[in-house]
Amino acid sequence: MTNETLTVTDNRTGKTYEIPIENETIPAAALRKIKVDPDDFGLMTYDPGYGNTASCKSAITYIDGDKGILRYRGYPIEQLAEQSTFLEVAYLLIHGELPSKDELERWENDVMHHTFVHENLARMVEAFRYDAHPMSILISALSIMSSMHADAKDVQNAAARKKQVLRILGKLPTVAAFAYRHRIGRPYNYPNSDLSYTGNFLYMLDYMKQTHYEVNPVLAKALDVLFILHADHEQNCSTAVMRNIGSAMADPYVAMSGAAAALSGPLHGGANEAVVKMLGVIGDEKHVPSYIERVKKGDFRLMGFGHRVYKNYDPRARIVKQIAYDVFKVTGTDPLLDIALKLEEVALQDEYFVSRKLYPNVDFYSGIIYRAMRFPTDMFTVLFALGRAPGWLAQWLELITDEEQRIARPRQVYLGAEERAYVPLGER
Ligand code: CMC
Repeated sequence: MTNETLTVTDNRTGKTYEIPIENETIPAAALRKIKVDPDDFGLMTYDPGYGNTASCKSAITYIDGDKGILRYRGYPIEQLAEQSTFLEVAYLLIHGELPSKDELERWENDVMHHTFVHENLARMVEAFRYDAHPMSILISALSIMSSMHADAKDVQNAAARKKQVLRILGKLPTVAAFAYRHRIGRPYNYPNSDLSYTGNFLYMLDYMKQTHYEVNPVLAKALDVLFILHADHEQNCSTAVMRNIGSAMADPYVAMSGAAAALSGPLHGGANEAVVKMLGVIGDEKHVPSYIERVKKGDFRLMGFGHRVYKNYDPRARIVKQIAYDVFKVTGTDPLLDIALKLEEVALQDEYFVSRKLYPNVDFYSGIIYRAMRFPTDMFTVLFALGRAPGWLAQWLELITDEEQRIARPRQVYLGAEERAYVPLGER
């Protein structure tokens, strides 16, 4: 006899119900049998922002927010950041296991052979205004790609799914680089598949027909590690969007276009951009205490601080802080770093932040690194999207092959007007 159950007494009726517990969750549908009378819809849970609702079973990413743990497929983020590469991590997330030497070589070749985009896509980027936000271009490019790869609609076909994964991972940096070159009014550089994934991306961004152009290995490595740190984060806002759109059996391009749109919000992937803007507004270390006071008064939030899941320390933030120092050895230091360090020091000693368990998150330092690498601020979220792409894809693949999944369709608590008769315009 198992005691993995929950006994609930409905005080409205005095009736008692036994609800099964599996994996430390109760099936929400089991609450539906709790009714006052037989015509009732039954009990639901109310959970705005899904703070305590598991929407899927997943074997991809594990987070223990209280202990500051993040693992992809069981591997600690610290080990992956130190010893792996972004493409290897992408393979791990998507396939579930680390690749053998041959598998990795084939995977890298496959991805790098899908880096060219259709010329129509290049022309589409040109059609944007000179000052278009590169996230708008990325979001649009993904939906245009849906129209270019008709086989993507066949989401039940494993071979077609695999093809789109390679195309998306291969082409996304090219679109991002084109968006950047468009922004600064320079001709596009076409992909060079002799380079590494991040090396090729930096090349497409920076190459200006120099005779002896070389990608800086420290910067390429730093970007690679930043991509690893962003590669997946279980059911965050954009991933939930990817899964929600995917649950309607829409193709992965439009699903990812929606995910990227969610990521562009300042409370999500847009936070690194917001951090740099905030540090610019603070302007000097000496203004930090007064800025913190205004945050505490509720005038605005401290960007790059706080996380829905991490209530100890974001383990990614620790690694990012170290990368910042590596990058600064190449690029020179950034005065914003001193303001950031001061802000962190003051906040971590302040009762307001301590009691609410608000610590720097991954975006607190990543923006400063991107700035030191001379990325314009509005490219930051695009970089986050490139890093997150394998996670979105892995989650989408898991969803498509999960027989328990159905089209996403949340419930609501209706508190609006009761039925009333339409009043003609002249009588209102
Ligand atoms: N600055 C000041 N106060 C804050 C902050 C902050 N950054 N974050 C949370 N709080 C306060 C909030 O006002 C509330 O206080 P009280 O209980 O007195 O009302 C309490 O802390 C709990 O906040 P919450 O809004 O319930 O927390 P949440 O889990 O819903 O929000 C968050 C998480 C990340 C949206 C939020 O911390 C935030 O807005 N941070 C700033 C934006 C940011 O850095 N986002 C990047 C997140 S990491 C990258 C990613 O995963 O996308």
